[in-house]
Amino acid sequence: MSKEKIILSIGDPDVEAPDYVFEAAYAKMKEGGDWTHYGYMTDKPAGFRQAVVDYYKKESGVEYDPSAVIPCAGSSAALYIALKTLLDEGDEILMFEPTYRGHFAILNGLGVKQNLIQLEKENAYHPNIDSISEAITPKTKAVLVCNPNNPTGTVFTPTELKAIGDLAIDNDMGIFADEIYLHFVYDDNKFTSMASLSDEIKKRTINIMSFSKTFSMTGWRLGYDIVPEMYLEKAKLIAGMAAPRPPTFLYAAGEAALRGDFKYVEERRVAYDERRKYFCKAVNAIEGLECDPFEGAFYAWIDATSTGLGSQEFVDKFAEAENVFFSPGHTFGPNQDGMLRVPLCSKMPVLEEGITRLERFMASL
Ligand SMILES: Cc1ncc(COP(=O)(O)O)c(C=O)c1O
Repeated sequence: MSKEKIILSIGDPDVEAPDYVFEAAYAKMKEGGDWTHYGYMTDKPAGFRQAVVDYYKKESGVEYDPSAVIPCAGSSAALYIALKTLLDEGDEILMFEPTYRGHFAILNGLGVKQNLIQLEKENAYHPNIDSISEAITPKTKAVLVCNPNNPTGTVFTPTELKAIGDLAIDNDMGIFADEIYLHFVYDDNKFTSMASLSDEIKKRTINIMSFSKTFSMTGWRLGYDIVPEMYLEKAKLIAGMAAPRPPTFLYAAGEAALRGDFKYVEERRVAYDERRKYFCKAVNAIEGLECDPFEGAFYAWIDATSTGLGSQEFVDKFAEAENVFFSPGHTFGPNQDGMLRVPLCSKMPVLEEGITRLERFMASL
């Protein structure tokens, strides 16, 4: 095939991290000593932990002691520690479908059954809060909220979050708040932290956070959990066993990122917003496809069910015909066949070429 390959399936930003983050990492690598050796037992994570709690307070109004922060090699590790802390084989978890496939992967590996609440297109991908309690059984130990959600972009409202949090309290469940896309919200939508809704909710919420998307640091592998007192000892034990710690000099890089002016992050948000407006409109103009402009994160979630092709079939045929690679929707939940996900992590000319090829492919069906 002569056409250049276009990969539109991975949520990996098209730019580098801010310069000041690189500078902080280089400086500490050059300094060496504790910065380039085992960091865990030294004072090196302390500055990072303090920067995290200062940042989280600024963003959400919620205060934590620095000891609540467990630094990890990316939020994939943070997710594993969080889920393993609260869940055992045979337990159940309440979740919203569709959602990030990494959640399913870890939960399947742990042998945890997922009770799925649908985020429907007809309801702008927001949950029907009244029906959530029906999915709770005596075995349901926790609820996971990905806010903003990958792949639908749902920015949960304070009312929705409070209802979910209160249900967790009533049923003695833990709460996982995967908030790694918190900075990427559009139009009038506003991010609300789950832990900000009440002290009781905060007491049972583990926040899962990452530098990957906010600062375009996917390959640096830097993330963290913020763990409430009630779960902290167990979480530290799991983290100690699995040891998914970041390289020591990255504590300084993370601190530089969180203490920066966030102009970089706002520029990224504006770039994703521009792409969102262009891409969703262009997809909607293609007969047979629908794509609502999403509220948060940076994924276009395309309804291709009218083509009669399953997600994998669509992705394979499109790749074969046009050398463009989308993510198949069914990997984001068992009821998502016929859906497609496109991360808007490529520059505009690439997205425009993707649309040209998508139009041609759809016309050929
Ligand atoms: C919702 C969500 N959580 C966690 C992750 C894991 O990211 P990382 O391990 O790079 O921090 C991703 C990656 O796409 C994601 O979309």
